[in-house]
Amino acid sequence: MTRGDRQWPTHCRAFVVDKGESGTAGNIRQHALPAGGGGEVLVRIAYSALNYKDALVLRGARGIASSYPHVPGIDAAGVVEASSGSPDWVGQQVLVTGFGLGVERAGGWSEYLVVPEDWLVRIPSSLSMLDSMILGTAGLTAALSIEALFEGRVRSGDPVLVTGATGGVGSHAVAILASLGLRVTASSRKPEAASYLRDLGAHEVSHPDALAVPGGKALAHPRWQGAVDTVGGEALADILKQTADEGVVALCGMAGGTHFHSSVFPFILRGVRLTGIDSVHVSLARRVALWEKLAGPWKPRRLAAMSTIIPLSDVAKAAERVLSGTQTGRVVVRVGADPERPGTP
Ligand SMILES: NC(=O)c1ccc[n+]([C@@H]2O[C@H](COP(=O)([O-])OP(=O)(O)OC[C@H]3O[C@@H](n4cnc5c(N)ncnc54)[C@H](OP(=O)(O)O)[C@@H]3O)[C@@H](O)[C@H]2O)c1
Repeated sequence: MTRGDRQWPTHCRAFVVDKGESGTAGNIRQHALPAGGGGEVLVRIAYSALNYKDALVLRGARGIASSYPHVPGIDAAGVVEASSGSPDWVGQQVLVTGFGLGVERAGGWSEYLVVPEDWLVRIPSSLSMLDSMILGTAGLTAALSIEALFEGRVRSGDPVLVTGATGGVGSHAVAILASLGLRVTASSRKPEAASYLRDLGAHEVSHPDALAVPGGKALAHPRWQGAVDTVGGEALADILKQTADEGVVALCGMAGGTHFHSSVFPFILRGVRLTGIDSVHVSLARRVALWEKLAGPWKPRRLAAMSTIIPLSDVAKAAERVLSGTQTGRVVVRVGADPERPGTP
């Protein structure tokens, strides 16, 4: 078994959520780390993030965390301190998103993480650890959604729609699509965020009410060639009705609901494609390729403007903002020291 010089710790500081009859509650305390054999690595975490899914775990929503007490955090970035697999990982800056992180096993809201080495992505050199968490699952999901649009008949110059535009996925989707030359309509419930969305590159900002097709028509005038839908729910049916011939709707979210009712007409009369996006089970090879894009030609220009950085002690308060839909942009959680930013705790 190969290890770094560091003694593999048995416990570390983490934000642990307990679930009882009266609900869930979380606090920072010591939690036990797995022993870490068979190709697992020990990562000292610098940053994690607060995703919509983490907020649901904190609230105790059913069917997400496999058990409680639980350490949330579906995203993590840090430095590998020891490895029971390849010694090449030791000292590398890495990120982990999805797979079972923060859901089936302890996540990134922890001083240390023990994960299989085949969950690791080396952070590309043009991204800092902080950048990688401003992107995180949201950036990866936006990238998967945008690839899905280009796999269909969506091209530079086309009009496209992004819903839930001020959210983490939405903000990255707006910024990347605009930088690739698409004319982005950003749909947001927050009128006060119009200048934020225009700064990200949105061509037009509109309220979700403007997505509605009056009169229950089966099809309506085509308004966009593609859409990244982070909200889901009944509005999706109206988005499909207004998608142009051979357009693509990439559905990744459910902030606005889990069900919708559609006719077959957008699909059989316009050849519209509805593509599901799953960022959790993407293969490692595809992740690495997507992270190279996110670090290179697709790197959003205004990463810092898209994020709020909070300490681990503030996650519960921030989760309320995420679940009430009042947060704008990504919430990055500062967990440990960042060697690139001396002076951070
Ligand atoms: N498929 C995947 O692999 C994948 C990966 C990441 C995230 N997701 C899902 O994608 C969605 C967005 O994730 P995120 O990290 O971007 O979340 P987020 O940062 O919390 O953003 C969600 C956005 O949706 C809008 N919204 C919130 N509540 C709403 C409601 N009740 N009705 C309508 N709109 C509402 C808000 O945008 P406005 O105020 O601008 O309208 C909010 O900022 C979530 O459902 C998440 O679970 C899926």
